[in-house]
Amino acid sequence: MARAAGRKSKVMMAFGDVHIPHHNPRAVEVFCRAAERIKPDLIVCLGDLLDCGQFSVHPPTYGVPESDYNEDLKRANALLDRVQRCCARLVMVEGNHEYRLDRWAAATAEGRGAYSLLAPRIQLSKGRTKFSYVPYGAADGRYPHYPINSRVIAVHGWSHAKAATRAHLQISQGRSVIHGHTHRADAHMTQNIWETGRIVEARSAGCLCKPVPLYGTGRPVEWVNAFIIGYLGRRSDTLYTVPIMHDRCILPDGTEVSA
Ligand SMILES: [Fe+2]
Repeated sequence: MARAAGRKSKVMMAFGDVHIPHHNPRAVEVFCRAAERIKPDLIVCLGDLLDCGQFSVHPPTYGVPESDYNEDLKRANALLDRVQRCCARLVMVEGNHEYRLDRWAAATAEGRGAYSLLAPRIQLSKGRTKFSYVPYGAADGRYPHYPINSRVIAVHGWSHAKAATRAHLQISQGRSVIHGHTHRADAHMTQNIWETGRIVEARSAGCLCKPVPLYGTGRPVEWVNAFIIGYLGRRSDTLYTVPIMHDRCILPDGTEVSA
């Protein structure tokens, strides 16, 4: 069948909250295979790629073996290398977990000495081209974000509340926003009342970590393994959330991808 006339949209994929070494390897594999199939123009990592538990103020979870941070860094870089091979541009929006390194450096002399050897913003960026790293905090008083285009921005996450995704849409004041941080997969779409006929949306990407937290008291959580695919047009965009179930997912075109 002939394609409808008109300009082809750009393709974007977004994933987040991998929390290496607490990642779900099968979910990560599904995402990578989907990316290798789609070969998007842009891939955005929405932060918390690394858990950085070694730099946490929280005590370790009993019974969970501590991993070596340098091994975690190697794994994270290997994952970025793999996704970078199949996209034209890669963006990493830093999460609060990567930001632990900055707080550690600010709090200790040891941290300041070792910062450049350990900080994700340095160690994940090294040697990369066609790559942007958006720090979690900004010293210049601007709100850290990555503008995907003139309508959609990417952030790690401004809220963890029950209705976090809806809250993101209120805070973003007329821009669509994709985010991670909650590990849930919500979407909220509404008319932008300031621009007749325009729709804005907020969408969370789910996570690629193990869907049951290591901490806590056994209380159920609403985490889901998922990622976002976006088709970015000249005047509008369509974003999908793709859930990963039983080590497989179905892309918007109907193709099934399995780990
Ligand atoms: Fe987070």
